[in-house]
Amino acid sequence: MASNKKFFSHATIEKNLSILIFLSILVVSFAGLVQIVPLFYQHSTTKAAPGVKPLNALQLVGRDVFIKEGCVGCHSQQVRVLASDVQRYGPYSVAGESVYDYPFLWGSRRMGPDLARVGGRYSDDWHRIHIRDPRMVVKQSNMPAYYWLQHKDASNTNIQNRMIALNKLNQFHQGEPMYSEKEIADAPNMIKGKTEEDAVIAYLQSLGVGYVTALREQEIKNKQ
Ligand code: HEC
Repeated sequence: MASNKKFFSHATIEKNLSILIFLSILVVSFAGLVQIVPLFYQHSTTKAAPGVKPLNALQLVGRDVFIKEGCVGCHSQQVRVLASDVQRYGPYSVAGESVYDYPFLWGSRRMGPDLARVGGRYSDDWHRIHIRDPRMVVKQSNMPAYYWLQHKDASNTNIQNRMIALNKLNQFHQGEPMYSEKEIADAPNMIKGKTEEDAVIAYLQSLGVGYVTALREQEIKNKQ
């Protein structure tokens, strides 16, 4: 075959393993960059979606409890664009909802339901009973009981340093701090006397609320 003699022919590449590996990596890396790099500069992925605000101090402690207790291992926080997901949970998740999440908690496993839209779905009291003993409200539940959270002090954490660190991260990623000096100064008061159970409930009740409310308001406006 004439093409065999050329260095850059398929035959040469396919017969030479190191060239094949090198070129494969090159192609995959380039394709990856083409997909990923624009996301760093797109408004929809770098700026907060409508209605999305940073968590307050109590919700922030709740988020740490959520991470610490491994809730993320059973609960995702991403409603997919599939009709079945949207019908079950509500509007699908968008990237701009996660801009204040360091790190994000999208999760990948759904032993339990997705929680991205759980805010406001149940009362605080329902959550309290459910966290202490899930079987009291959902008979067939296999979620572990987290009865000790009601006895753990939520103010036992250096919340102010935590918020200052988040400010730095947000400054780097979005060019502005996440919390004002007043919010940081008020933080210890907000979590004083609260338990980790209060905190995780405050966190759950915040999930999805700002964004979904903004979406609904937009829909109403569009109809008028
Ligand atoms: C072993 C897996 C597992 C872990 C860990 C787990 N859950 Fe669950 N969770 C479930 C299952 C299964 C359900 C569905 C049955 C029920 O409602 O109890 C559920 C339901 C829920 C619901 C109700 C969701 C809805 O839309 O009805 C909330 C809220 C919740 N879990 C919060 C938490 C929190 C907070 C933690 C961590 C403190 C946690 N879960 C840890 C498995 C888990």
